[in-house]
Amino acid sequence: MSDLSVTYLGMKLKNPVIAGASGLTASIDFIKRIEQAGAGAIVCKSLFEEEILLQTLKHNKDIHQYDNWHAEMTSIFPDIEAKALENHLYWVRKAKEEVKIPVIGSLNAVSEEIWLDYSEEMVKTGIDALELNFYSAPGFESEPSEAIEKKQLEILKKIRKAVSIPIVVKLSHFYTNPVHFIRELDNIGINGFVLFNRLFQPNINIDEETNTFPYTFSHKEDNRLALRYSALLYGELKGSVCASTGILDSHDVIRMLLAGADAVQMVSGLYANGVEHIATLINEISQWMEKKDYEKIDDFKGKLSRKNLGQKDAWIYKRTQYVKMLMQTSESLMKQII
Ligand SMILES: Cc1cc2nc3c(=O)[nH]c(=O)nc-3n(C[C@H](O)[C@H](O)[C@H](O)COP(=O)(O)O)c2cc1C
Repeated sequence: MSDLSVTYLGMKLKNPVIAGASGLTASIDFIKRIEQAGAGAIVCKSLFEEEILLQTLKHNKDIHQYDNWHAEMTSIFPDIEAKALENHLYWVRKAKEEVKIPVIGSLNAVSEEIWLDYSEEMVKTGIDALELNFYSAPGFESEPSEAIEKKQLEILKKIRKAVSIPIVVKLSHFYTNPVHFIRELDNIGINGFVLFNRLFQPNINIDEETNTFPYTFSHKEDNRLALRYSALLYGELKGSVCASTGILDSHDVIRMLLAGADAVQMVSGLYANGVEHIATLINEISQWMEKKDYEKIDDFKGKLSRKNLGQKDAWIYKRTQYVKMLMQTSESLMKQII
């Protein structure tokens, strides 16, 4: 068996396959199975600021049903916000106790105060690293892009100061220049970047003329963004790069490593094939490495990154490639039509 170990966020992982945050990593049973299947690390299901606020609101509503019945009733309920937070922290602590592989906590907040408070609380559970999931819903009521980025940067500077464990930021690709923003985060000491989050998009049912909210899993083609950005960033950052979205099988994992990613996260692939899929992947990666005479991941990581492109492929990440491709496509399409 080849040596699949990698360094991610300064931690040694036995292999680059990480089970990403999902319903699967919200259960201690599944977390144990994921470890048994051989994953390099797991990211726990996120603690969402909204989830706690919603529970608080619901609880307050429930409490007020009793207002006329017994006024003191309300005072004997514990503070639900603290309870919901405690529950999450409890099982993350438990997850950390139950497995030996690195456990990465995950937080998804909105307000600066919550980002800071919950980050510090998460760290107390003993997690090995903290993944912060930044997402700002686009809309006219939202601030302009520059202000959003500035705010995210300021929040991250404060979290960086407050927290001593590795921090990894999970980003959406909806930045005009993600690479520039990632470099800014790298410069303030963020230890890694998960590229990218797959964001929920609503759909429309044309028969019923209603909005629908399907949760669709990723397709293979979805991983091109992660591939491109892994290749662009290889050798350019102090922090690690973790490719994510649409990484479904061992070929996808190998592609990401060749492009330059340090690790990969997988969720849809585990829902589709079961968490034991990780064992198959690892075997297949090892077999591929043996076939290629690679002893360790570093022997081929970043081989096809932008930095290592030969003269022949130098145009791949330039605008000329985009123009050339579209021109060729329209010429070949025209030929087919004529
Ligand atoms: C059921 C489900 C639950 C998820 N929960 C979280 C979560 O709590 N936090 C998070 O950052 N991402 C969450 N995600 C997103 C995944 O971590 C991942 O970014 C996304 O599914 C893309 O990866 P994939 O193509 O391997 O599925 C969830 C995804 C699914 C399918």
